[in-house]
Amino acid sequence: MGSTFTYKHPKRLMMTSALPYANGQIHIGHIAGAYLPGDIRARFERMAGSEIVWVCGSDEHGAAITLRAKKDGVTPREIVDRYHIEMQQAFQGLDMSFDHYSRTSSDRHHKVAQAFFMKLLDQGSFEVKTEAQFYDPEANQFLADRYITGTCPKCESPGAFGDQCEKCGSTLSPTELIEPKSTLSGATPILKDTTLWYLPMGRHENWLKPYIESGELDGHTHHASDAWKAHVTGQCRSWIESGLQSRAMTRDLDWGVPVPVEGAEGKVLYVWLDAPIGYITATMEWAEKNGAQWEDWWQSPETELIHFIGKDNIVFHCLIFPILLKEHGDYILPSNVPANAFMNLEGDKISTSRNWAVWVNEFLEEFPGKSDELRYVLTSIMPEQKDSEFTWADYRERVNNELADVLGNFVNRVLVLTKKYYDSSVPAVEVSDFTSGDLEVVNQLESAPQKIADCIRKNRYRDALQEAMSIARLGNKYMTEQEPWKVQKTDPDRTRIILNLCIQVTANCAVLLEPFLPKTASKIQRAFGIESASWDSAKPIMVPAETKLGELPILFEKIEESTVQAQVEKLESAKAQATGARSDCQPLKEIMTFEDFQKLDLRVGEVVACERVPKADKLLQLTIRTGLDERTVLSGIAEHFSPEEVVGRRVTLLANLAPRKIRGIESQGMVLMAETAEGELRFVTPEEGTNAGDVIR
Ligand code: MF3
Ligand code: ZN
Repeated sequence: MGSTFTYKHPKRLMMTSALPYANGQIHIGHIAGAYLPGDIRARFERMAGSEIVWVCGSDEHGAAITLRAKKDGVTPREIVDRYHIEMQQAFQGLDMSFDHYSRTSSDRHHKVAQAFFMKLLDQGSFEVKTEAQFYDPEANQFLADRYITGTCPKCESPGAFGDQCEKCGSTLSPTELIEPKSTLSGATPILKDTTLWYLPMGRHENWLKPYIESGELDGHTHHASDAWKAHVTGQCRSWIESGLQSRAMTRDLDWGVPVPVEGAEGKVLYVWLDAPIGYITATMEWAEKNGAQWEDWWQSPETELIHFIGKDNIVFHCLIFPILLKEHGDYILPSNVPANAFMNLEGDKISTSRNWAVWVNEFLEEFPGKSDELRYVLTSIMPEQKDSEFTWADYRERVNNELADVLGNFVNRVLVLTKKYYDSSVPAVEVSDFTSGDLEVVNQLESAPQKIADCIRKNRYRDALQEAMSIARLGNKYMTEQEPWKVQKTDPDRTRIILNLCIQVTANCAVLLEPFLPKTASKIQRAFGIESASWDSAKPIMVPAETKLGELPILFEKIEESTVQAQVEKLESAKAQATGARSDCQPLKEIMTFEDFQKLDLRVGEVVACERVPKADKLLQLTIRTGLDERTVLSGIAEHFSPEEVVGRRVTLLANLAPRKIRGIESQGMVLMAETAEGELRFVTPEEGTNAGDVIR
């Protein structure tokens, strides 16, 4: 027996998705970057009959964790335990089908990472250096990069970190900072000697270059058949060209994998050394549970290693980890690292600290059962080559116009008509009766599986989804044009063909959309009696005559404009809370020059008289002493102030505004007012001690 899989990948596929830091929630940017592409690929490869393992897990070490713990006043252990659970809920809610999800704080992982480090240490892969590092004399500990802030030496903005200035993007080292401060105690750090183990990356430039450019390694081409993305190769090239510096592989910290060397108390492995080894630990755990050999997946030339990551992880996966794997000697190197760029949100960068994000767990709570909708939109706008943008308006349009109006509507019409005309039993047809129009549809079904497979294997998931959706579009259009509900009255035999073909199209959608929309696909598959859909099962005639079709509820509900509007408002107010900004604030006006400002004659005025302007409800007529003169100014504040409330006040006066006649009275200036959120007006009153005629500048 044994089915032969046409689409089976010739090699084993070891796939990883970046281990997310267990210091916060998962948002849509994470999903679109490193997880959804992995899941689509994994689901597709399983359907294709390929041998594949896809692992992930929580990255539980590093300063990201300890800083968060410090901020919340809890232990790092409490932080990672909490987010290890919450991140998995988010992944499960969006149907991420990891074969195994691990964590790096486990004993097992500590041992694996330590053994890896020791092998490299013993064979002389590291340089040992003793050097002066920043030390907090109050907290009594060495300070990791992120624990030191100060003024950026490049752009002079305050609040730069020891490793990077987030304002200007420069990479820094802690000792470059102007007026460095410890974030632990606020103390000025002192320099103290410590021993560090460095990875001399410069030693590896020669083989890295051809490896990055073309996958050439030791005379073989190790890359997958697909090329690396241009932006990935480009970033690596510029790192190599600017010269690879040695990078410390240990840190003086008390949270992490301890350095397994005598006398190295208080030292742990650099998180970017231990975390990627977490992929290996995860595979070992998976292998143990499944009676497999982990070495087949990491140490065999019959395996391709593929890392799914976001672009901020490129250097670690394309240069540092490959160096470590090659130095070790027993391992294969990644054959592709299809990194994605970033996804922005409503015109701004996604930011945890500003709470500008769509959090997956919140989405799942507020939109229960809508995970496929989110997967669909995130795949449609996946930042494969460059940054992209999620907006709620676009989310709504795609769900309503594409999922509901095309896919959902089509599947629904097919089921309703099949029930009405044939009591839900698939009508029998002869292919010899097909018209050329029918055969055109058949041709499209014939070629779709290969086209989609090609896109997926080239890591072009947006195109792949479009190809799959074009089958639903094709069916929807075919049915609309053929009008079986009319034809049925005159030519029932023809109707049988039309509906049979529509049923075949739907069944193909149910298979070809499965990697993208797993919940929807399995609903349709069940209704159409399709069991364990392999990629090979997608073909022009899939569903045999007489098959009894089931029933389906509406697949996609339309979204109201008010629903997405509420999401935008929620974003704004969450950001306002996080940043202290007002959500109802007017946007900033166009920038003006100092020269523009200097044209304004602003001065302190004193109101010496005030009366209502007859027949004008809004206007008060003020007489203002300006130091130069006493002049008349009209002000539209009569609904807010009585003349008695105004007389005797000192005000801010714009004195050189061109005079203007209103109701026959000439106004010679303007009194500045502030408008509150409630629309109330308030005077901008110069402080006590100022006098009429004082210049405001
Ligand atoms: N935790 C890192 C991040 O969120 C990713 C680590 S990927 C691994 O950016 F390879 F190190 F595991
Ligand atoms: Zn800077």
